[in-house]
Amino acid sequence: MPIIINGHDVAAPADPRVSLLDLLRERLDLTGTKKGCNQGACGACTVLIDGQRKLSCLSLAVQCDGHDITTIEAISEVDSLHPLQAAFIETDGFQCGYCTPGQIMSGIALRGEMQRGAPSHVTPRLEDVPEASNEEIRERMSGNICRCGANNGIIEAISSYVRGTL
Ligand code: FES
Ligand code: FES
Repeated sequence: MPIIINGHDVAAPADPRVSLLDLLRERLDLTGTKKGCNQGACGACTVLIDGQRKLSCLSLAVQCDGHDITTIEAISEVDSLHPLQAAFIETDGFQCGYCTPGQIMSGIALRGEMQRGAPSHVTPRLEDVPEASNEEIRERMSGNICRCGANNGIIEAISSYVRGTL
């Protein structure tokens, strides 16, 4: 079975050690997905696998056989940004920009998780639909590290996107 990457069938690499991240960046030239730590600590490599956010550095490409992968390249057109991309611009949610694709892919999945009512560590009551408070968004984005000064803008952009106000 092929891997479906941004709607295209891609054969899994013969070498089972190739990570999904290296398949994307080094073999398919999909360099929007970034390699930060390459060990699951920074979130820069976040993509969607069947709509769920996953770290592509910790996913073997062969494990993705038959699954749908979405990368930052597929969320918008040149002349029409994804609403979360527009929100990042609106709030100055980036400085280096290297972590931004992972932040955006994570933010897109995060909204789905909250709409489904999935609780986080800081959700006050498990039976409630979580609110898009800054505390809630910070907790849910804690796997995506920004090491410069853009974190407040990132949280503001994602909060606005989740609340549908931008
Ligand atoms: S590159 Fe994958 S988590 Fe840092
Ligand atoms: S914007 Fe990339 S580390 Fe802060």
